[in-house]
Amino acid sequence: MGKVYEATVTAPVNIAVIKYWGKRDSALILPTNSSLSVTLSQDHLSTRTTIRASPDFTIDRLWLNGVEEDINASKRLVNSITTARKLREALEEKQKQDGIPAESVVPLSQWKIHVCSENNFPTAAGLASSASGYAALVSALGTLYELPQTTSELSRVARVGSGSACRSMFGGFVAWQAGIADDGHDSLAVQVADRQHWPELQALILVASDKKKAVSSTAGMQTTVETSSLFAERVRTVVPQRMEAMKEAIAKRDFETFAEITMRDSNQFHAVCLDTYPPISYMNDTSRAVAGLVHAFNSARGRTAAAYTYDAGPNAVIYALKSDMRDLVELFTYCFPREDSILPDAFYPDPFSIFDS
Ligand code: PMV
Repeated sequence: MGKVYEATVTAPVNIAVIKYWGKRDSALILPTNSSLSVTLSQDHLSTRTTIRASPDFTIDRLWLNGVEEDINASKRLVNSITTARKLREALEEKQKQDGIPAESVVPLSQWKIHVCSENNFPTAAGLASSASGYAALVSALGTLYELPQTTSELSRVARVGSGSACRSMFGGFVAWQAGIADDGHDSLAVQVADRQHWPELQALILVASDKKKAVSSTAGMQTTVETSSLFAERVRTVVPQRMEAMKEAIAKRDFETFAEITMRDSNQFHAVCLDTYPPISYMNDTSRAVAGLVHAFNSARGRTAAAYTYDAGPNAVIYALKSDMRDLVELFTYCFPREDSILPDAFYPDPFSIFDS
């Protein structure tokens, strides 16, 4: 057996507070608008990926959660791997040009790889794993190939796998700048603030349904771009203003502003989905009840003490400061009692946890 090179990386899930919805280029995954998210702790929802490269491997192979899958079945997966290989090839060329003897340049770009990827959360929980999955894949390739690119530059490679994955390349608060270039070189993720900037902020995930969504985000976005007039207004005026206001709220650790923008943006995203023709409805009765409860909680506190946000599905993510989270968890547990919580350590989130509603 020849040499085996190996890298292992863990990447967490991120939850957008300004939503990405709509592509201006679906091959390169270029968005119609910028977005901003919070990357969750990797202790809870994350993907751990190990990649091995060897001259002895005859084909690329992929295992997801212990089961072998066809690595060529996903065009996006192939795109991400091919893009990373090209970066490695360029690095090998440069090493040779810099005078490193050809026999000392490891031709990793030519070797086949084995990818082994595992989520540390139940796949059945209905929580998106593509963001952490592609971020882990690209970070692991970056480490394996010793790529000189910055994390922002590498986020472009994660982006061609799954748009929102580019934001999971960083921890903390992350913006995905939409960019304007046709080749996508300026469509990448940048860190707005690291996790330590606001340690009191916590997220709680409420699983309202673990079923696979009826309309995939790819199909949904395309129909929205083609049919919704509300969407055009969102992209033109609303999101640019919110991106600035959100960055300012994060910089100032202004929870009330952060929370209000988060809820308004989630609401507008779902309104745009309803304005799509035929309409798309991702939230269900439980999701709406949770949103109502958050507003009732805020009224009772006399301030915006909690925020909800929903992606392309019915599960809620609740943001609150640590000082309010315990009461919120008690409230949700009381209103949506379930014995079979998905994770046993469900109740006191630090920085967040999951339970079934
Ligand atoms: O990256 P995708 O194709 O999974 O799209 C994600 C879209 C939303 O989750 C609804 C919003 C977002 O910004 O993450």
